[in-house]
Amino acid sequence: MCGIVGYVGGREATPILLEGLRRLEYRGYDSAGVAVMNGDAAGITIRKLAGRVQGLRQVLAGEPVHGSTGIAHTRWATHGAPTTPNAHPHVDCSGRIALVHNGIIENADALRAALQASGHRFCTETDTETLAHLIEDAGGETLEARVIGALGHVVGTYGLAVVSADHPGTVVVARQGSPVLLGIGEGELFVASDASAILEHTRSVVYLDDGDIAVLTPSGYHIIDTQDHVQLRPVNDIAWDLQAIELGGYPHFMLKEICEQAETVRSTLRGRLLFDSGAARLNGLNLSPEQCAAIQRIVIVACGTSWHAGLVGRHVIQELAGIPVAVEYASEYRYSRPIREPGTVAIAISQSGETADTLEAMRAARAGGAIRVLGIVNVVGSTIAREADGGIYLHAGPEIGVASTKAFTSQIVALTLLGLYLGHHRGLAPEAGRELVCRLSQLPGLITRTLALEPQVRALARAYADRPTFLYLGRGVNFPVALEGALKLKEISYIHAEGYPAAEMKHGPIALIDDQMPVVFVAPKDDIFQKVRSNMQEVKARGGHIIAVTTEGNGDLGGLVDHQLRVPATAPLLSPVLTTLPLQLLAYHIAVLRGCDVDQPRNLAKSVTVE
Ligand code: AGP
Repeated sequence: MCGIVGYVGGREATPILLEGLRRLEYRGYDSAGVAVMNGDAAGITIRKLAGRVQGLRQVLAGEPVHGSTGIAHTRWATHGAPTTPNAHPHVDCSGRIALVHNGIIENADALRAALQASGHRFCTETDTETLAHLIEDAGGETLEARVIGALGHVVGTYGLAVVSADHPGTVVVARQGSPVLLGIGEGELFVASDASAILEHTRSVVYLDDGDIAVLTPSGYHIIDTQDHVQLRPVNDIAWDLQAIELGGYPHFMLKEICEQAETVRSTLRGRLLFDSGAARLNGLNLSPEQCAAIQRIVIVACGTSWHAGLVGRHVIQELAGIPVAVEYASEYRYSRPIREPGTVAIAISQSGETADTLEAMRAARAGGAIRVLGIVNVVGSTIAREADGGIYLHAGPEIGVASTKAFTSQIVALTLLGLYLGHHRGLAPEAGRELVCRLSQLPGLITRTLALEPQVRALARAYADRPTFLYLGRGVNFPVALEGALKLKEISYIHAEGYPAAEMKHGPIALIDDQMPVVFVAPKDDIFQKVRSNMQEVKARGGHIIAVTTEGNGDLGGLVDHQLRVPATAPLLSPVLTTLPLQLLAYHIAVLRGCDVDQPRNLAKSVTVE
């Protein structure tokens, strides 16, 4: 996924573009660039290079570019290595058209061949460059007419911003499958992949829909479709503010987001707990009691950490609502030719609400006859949220760190609220509902207490940061926590780690155990704890080093494990919210000790909007 920013108005564009890129850098950070026009037909000036936005800022400090119209881009490479020539913006042969793009042009090779055959010279390996040449070839009096003409040849996804030296002061924006919004200022307009890039200038944003073409000039904007029909889009007000996307004194966004989980879980719960009835208030779900009763099956589609949350959700919803739940990797689901089953509700779980695999899987579920498609999403107004029939917003605030942490715990809480909501209409005993509602309300305090383990976790990180591989084991509702703990470690410390069902060890992986491999057991004192304890004995007998995440007051592990991280007791279904916290901290501190870029790990981006 990449980040795009645009500006047209009365101020110097360059500083606005650079600050916008800095706030979007979590979306991709392979290379960065700007294209600025100074208002007359003198042309477009471009500065771009491989590397971070800070490098671009330094180049521009040495070679400033002046102008009040501009576009900019920070890249996560999909086609073409992260080199300076492949950095956006890209231009046509004349250099009078420049554009930035987030997405994938799937027929780029064929388009490139045809354009080259007609005399176009290409300077990059990217799919995006074909767009510049197509616009150059397209006829039309206006820039938007030429962009529409060019896009008529394109198969793929794009969030696109285009400028032309022949149309000073104009920025044309197009959206198909990649998020892009407009910021409405006083006599100035902005373009951004998400609101964090422009929030310091305006809270008024317009989310473009697929097929929209927006034309921005200093005097205003209008939106049309490819048939030149005017499209009216609502102006939304962004609720959160800047400090939500600032570090606030923390060394990394990931640590900030780990430490704010008591507050973010409180936000997810706010206004949704019904203590008297033992149910949940979920107004955005758009699911009537009759529809709840008619559900025969749920399929959850998600990726990565969100998929792990879905695995927890399966336990929760099956127990509370008695509905069979399947949890599918979104990328697998959409090509698996799923069997059409009556009464199926699909649930897409996505922090960003823009993950291409998840978006396409929910579309496949709808095409496959799902009676409702719901979204459990953090980013308000994101594509998945807008395409769903209803859903639950996490209200966890922007998650900047590439490694998802606070979204995971809020997703589990949201899924539990969903389980309560469904269960209430499907015979869940009110007393059981009231008990769980009470336990949910206690979670923020228990999270705070669990995060106090950080000094102990930091000591463990120092002891094990040099190990080449880790194993994470769990059972039942905590098996997904083992998977999630392994993913956290892998993606930010680059240490190989594997999550596994604890009981499966004896069917092969126990051959891996030696005195170099730390084995992390997620083992709260619940009804399968004794089984997990047996699995620990199997590992210990083979010389394994055991780190156990267990419940405060559990005296059954003395002498068996090497380290214990004790979390407060809670309802078994809610234990993943607490057991995951020490594992988030362990991954974080090991990565810091290893000198890794915790917030922007190599090869990754915050939301993968390409398939
Ligand atoms: C989580 O730490 C990863 N960064 C990644 O697996 C992420 O969870 C996945 O890409 C799904 O993202 P989404 O929740 O925004 O859809």
